[in-house]
Amino acid sequence: MGKLMNKKLGVEILATGSSFPQKVLTNADLEKIVDTNDEWIVSRTGMRQRHIAAPNEATSDVALGAARQAIESAKIQAGEIDLIVVATVTPDMFFPSTACFLQTKLGLKNIPAFDLLAACSGFIYGIGVAKAFIESGMYKTILLVGADCLSKITNWTDRNTCVLFGDGAGAMILRASEEKNAILSVSLGADGSYADLLYMPAGGSFKPASHETVDAFEHTTIMKGKDVFKNAVPKMVKAAEEAIVKSGKKVEDIKLFIPHQANMRIIEAVAKKLSISMDRVFVNIHKTGNISSATTITALDEAIRTGKLQKGDLVVLVAFGGGFTWGGCVIEI
Ligand code: UT7
Repeated sequence: MGKLMNKKLGVEILATGSSFPQKVLTNADLEKIVDTNDEWIVSRTGMRQRHIAAPNEATSDVALGAARQAIESAKIQAGEIDLIVVATVTPDMFFPSTACFLQTKLGLKNIPAFDLLAACSGFIYGIGVAKAFIESGMYKTILLVGADCLSKITNWTDRNTCVLFGDGAGAMILRASEEKNAILSVSLGADGSYADLLYMPAGGSFKPASHETVDAFEHTTIMKGKDVFKNAVPKMVKAAEEAIVKSGKKVEDIKLFIPHQANMRIIEAVAKKLSISMDRVFVNIHKTGNISSATTITALDEAIRTGKLQKGDLVVLVAFGGGFTWGGCVIEI
């Protein structure tokens, strides 16, 4: 931890990065696995393909590519990082944390590293955590990663869910600054009473792994899609609105809205309720599917790398997921 002065500390976003497993699974490929078709998947979700990790590729491996790209783009040495936070629902193992595996893969030692679980809202929860740690003066340079390999917890015999999920990782380097205040606001929420609408019931202390839990596909994502959909739209609208109000900015000030990429119809409904035209909404769901903790950060990274965002632009990230959890933030690129 560097010596920090008395002035109020803000956050500067130095860079982002992203990484996807090589293998791509198209809708046509899925037609060979379950009773589905390209027309249904595209019209009901907007998805056309998703990346799928190799059998020997873990979440920390995918995270490593994203972290390295962010470090390179930030023009820092990995050794300058003094905290690693990984948002994920598909850790390499229950423990140690994926952040610890990532630390070693980056050639780092001794700095703190931990995972954060807030399902699809994980990266935005991570932004809140990074902001608080930096503003308090506790850490100076944070590597924040959103990484998931949902293919590893997917029931490939269930057409209701297996067409929806993909794998990938995004990373962000955040640094303490006396001049910048790049995280203008964060608004987070959760309601645990909806837990059984979107969950992986077995493998934890509630229902330890057994032959029965494996046979019942209870180590895979189970979702009541329609109920999740109904809750997702109002909660994402609320999270985005709260974040904008907290930031002191107006909807017109926001250059780009980057919503969680779970369903094109959810994205369009949220945009409509916020009175934002779709040309100000970033969508990459057709290429990635739903990657839970990684969606908003991989989309942000793509928007930056393709020139849709320039230094100084304001962006809203907003997400909703299992828990239920939700979150929105206003950030300056
Ligand atoms: O990331 C965390 C948050 N997650 C979300 O936000 C996901 C929210 N939910 C959704 O995106 C949508 O509910 C889904 C995409 C999961 C499903 O779309 P839906 O319009 O709610 O469809 P449904 O589940 O009501 O199913 C409609 C029909 C059913 O057939 P019947 O009962 O009408 O004969 C399903 O069996 O579509 C059928 N169906 C399929 N057909 C072809 C379901 N999945 C498929 C499929 N291919 N893959």
